[in-house]
Amino acid sequence: MEEIHISGTGIWHPSESITNDEIVKSYNTYVDNFNIENKKLIERDEISALEHSSSAFIEKASGIKTRYVIDKKNILDINKMMPEVQHEDESRLSIHAIAGIDAAKKAMHEANVCADDIDGVILGTSHAARNYPSVAIEIQNQLGINGYAYDMLVGCSSTTFAINNAYSDIASGLAETILVINPEISTPFVNFAKRDIHFIFGDGCVATIVTKKKRSDNCFKIVDRKLVTKFSNNIRSDWSYLVRAAVDEKNTEDLLFYQNGNSVFKEVCPMVAEFITNQLDKNNILPSEIKKFWLHQANARMVNLIVSKVTNSDSFDETLAPLPIQKYGNLASAGSMFAFNLHNDLNKGEKGLICSFGAGYSVCSIIVEKI
Ligand code: COA
Repeated sequence: MEEIHISGTGIWHPSESITNDEIVKSYNTYVDNFNIENKKLIERDEISALEHSSSAFIEKASGIKTRYVIDKKNILDINKMMPEVQHEDESRLSIHAIAGIDAAKKAMHEANVCADDIDGVILGTSHAARNYPSVAIEIQNQLGINGYAYDMLVGCSSTTFAINNAYSDIASGLAETILVINPEISTPFVNFAKRDIHFIFGDGCVATIVTKKKRSDNCFKIVDRKLVTKFSNNIRSDWSYLVRAAVDEKNTEDLLFYQNGNSVFKEVCPMVAEFITNQLDKNNILPSEIKKFWLHQANARMVNLIVSKVTNSDSFDETLAPLPIQKYGNLASAGSMFAFNLHNDLNKGEKGLICSFGAGYSVCSIIVEKI
């Protein structure tokens, strides 16, 4: 079997970031206003008063300290509480394409590939910018890439599943070099007026060059891939093109991202720890041989728990399992490869493990070795 490689990666994030104190101040002002406006209903027990959020809770529960966002001003404005964006329109590039092209150029530079070397573009994301034409084809056109391009949606595993597709296309002989792009512009979809989720997401994008040949000095051989999905309603987003024609009543807010975070935590941590342990066993690799765990960045405690279970250790080492979530927030599917991009200083022959887990549920784990 021929070797297939990750030859380079690139990341993009917006320029502005929001601290926990800033997001909490905005949310708490909204809460105070809501409780004053609804004082009579609250006194009559017809509705419940809203409770304050707190920076201490956010950092303790999730590990998040800041998040980069596309429109800080309007997210923090309590009369808006969402970023402003433009409709998708044929006269301009999609916001996903702008982020994707920036990350792609950085990845292409690191991998020493030019547009002519690339045979296909696979774009995976949790939230599509539009139905068609594919944003991947738009990016392909902008970068002057030949071959084929398409978009795919697998929630928080869109990045790793897309890398997996790239691997399969190369292994089958369809392509030699694939550009994988994962824009995660999540904040337009976050209900910033909901206490249990207003602090979670940031915006960002990662791009990965998957190649048949070793193209760069910072090159990783893909040793093994393992994927699983298991249906769950615990993370959902019901917004779709069907909304316009739906006859049953739902508020827009009810169609946005929502989750039963505590259940996700309890169900997904053991599932992923067992999944990785089985994969390592199957490949005759000891957990101690994994020098970096680049895990999905939904929650720092989840990363801690999963790595501690896999390595059978009580002490968590951030150098073993990087936590970009602290600075960037939850970047949906881009999180694990963001971690890879920022912390991949392995020596030749050392192994690492990339693993995503999230909506679906969907899990994908990829063992790599620096060559
Ligand atoms: N500020 C202060 N308190 C808050 C709060 C906030 N912003 N949000 C919730 N709380 C309170 C709750 O009301 C609850 O209070 P109670 O104990 O009096 O009932 C308490 O904090 C604990 O709430 P809970 O929802 O159990 O918190 P948690 O420890 O599970 O942390 C998440 C919440 C979302 C950070 C965590 O569940 C998580 O990250 N889960 C994984 C999600 C995931 O992987 N999703 C995938 C999407 S990519």
